[in-house]
Amino acid sequence: MNYLHLIDLNDFPVKFWNELLELGIDIYHNPEKYAHACDGKIMATLFYEPSTRTQMSFQTAMLRLGGSLIGFDNPSTSSVAKGESLSDTTQIVSGYADVLVIRHPQPGAAKAAALTADCPVINAGDGGHLHPTQTLTDLLTLRLEKGTLENLNIGLCGDLKNGRTVHSLVKAMSCYKGNHFTFISTSELKMPQYIKDILSVHGASFKEVESLEEAIGELDVLYMTRIQRERFKSDEEYFAQKDTYVLDTAKLSLSKPDLKVLHPLPRVDEITTDVDKNEKAVYFKQAKYGMYIRMALIMTLLSNENRSIPLLSGKEYPGVCCSNELCITNSESYLPKSFVGIGDNVECEFCNERTLL
Ligand code: NCD
Repeated sequence: MNYLHLIDLNDFPVKFWNELLELGIDIYHNPEKYAHACDGKIMATLFYEPSTRTQMSFQTAMLRLGGSLIGFDNPSTSSVAKGESLSDTTQIVSGYADVLVIRHPQPGAAKAAALTADCPVINAGDGGHLHPTQTLTDLLTLRLEKGTLENLNIGLCGDLKNGRTVHSLVKAMSCYKGNHFTFISTSELKMPQYIKDILSVHGASFKEVESLEEAIGELDVLYMTRIQRERFKSDEEYFAQKDTYVLDTAKLSLSKPDLKVLHPLPRVDEITTDVDKNEKAVYFKQAKYGMYIRMALIMTLLSNENRSIPLLSGKEYPGVCCSNELCITNSESYLPKSFVGIGDNVECEFCNERTLL
C-alpha cells in the first residue's frame, strides 16, 4: 500500500509546508481543540541513535493528540541486536502501529524503512543526511519569532558538513523568496556540494566565510550547531575542530538588534550559558515549538491515507554501488541501488551522495 511518508521535506511542495505551519500555529494557540485528534491511534518510535528532544517531542505530540506509543530507543534490547534487518523490523512494527518514526545512524535509512512499511514513516534523522522535522520546527520558530520566512540573511555556523539539521534547513529556506545564506565554518566542515547545487537551482545566494565575528553583524538569523563528534573518523580530527566557534555575549553584541539565535540542541559548548537570558536567544522556545509542529505532522499524515509520494524514480546502473560507505544501501543488501544520472555522476536516491560513473 502507498502512504504519505515524510522522508525529505523537498518531496512536498512549499504549499504543504505552509499548511503544516498554519496547523502548527493553531495547535500552539488552541491545543485543547486537538486533544482527541488521534484517539485510538498508535505511534511507534524506532530510535537506533540517541535523542532527547526529537524522541520526547514526538512522544508528547502523540500523547497530546490522544494517541498511544510503542517503540525502542536502545536497539541493543530489541531484535536488532540479533541481526534483524531494517526491512524486517519495519515490516513487523508497522503492522502494529499507525505511524512509524525512525532515527538511524545511516543516511538513507528512513527511505529504506518507508519502502517496506505498512504505514506512514517519518524521518527523525538519518545519519548526517537529513532531519526534516527539525526543519519544520525551525520554520515554525522563524514564523513565530521573526514573523516571516522571506528576505532573511541566515547564518549557519559550526559543523555544516555533518549536521543534518543545516542540510534540511537550507534546502527548505532556499524555496522561500529573497533568502541569503552565510555559511560559517572551517574549510574541513563546509556545506556539502549537493546542497550548494540546490541553492543554485533555486537561485538563492550564499557566501562561505570562516569568521563568526566578521559575519554576525549582517545576519537576521544565526543558526548555531554543535560539532558532530559521532560522525568523525577519529577523536584527533574532532578535537582539531572543537571550540572553533563559540557564541558569547561579546560576539552577540556585534549583531543587529532583531537577530534571533537558533540551535537544534543539544548544545555542547558552542553557546555560552550567559547568552541564554538574552532575548535574541530563542533555542529553548524552539525546542517547545517542535512539539506543536510534530502534532500537526502526525495529524496530517494520519489523515491522508490515500495520498502517497513516489519514493524512488531513478534506476540501477549495473555494477554501480553508492560511494558513501555509510549509505544504507551498502549495509542492507536487498535494497535497490537506485540512482539518478547527473552528468558524469549518478546521485544515490537514498543518501544523495554522488558517484562517478
Ligand atoms: C540534532 C540532531 O539530532 O541532528 N538534534 C535534534 O534533533 N534536536 C542536532 C544535533 O544532534 O546536533
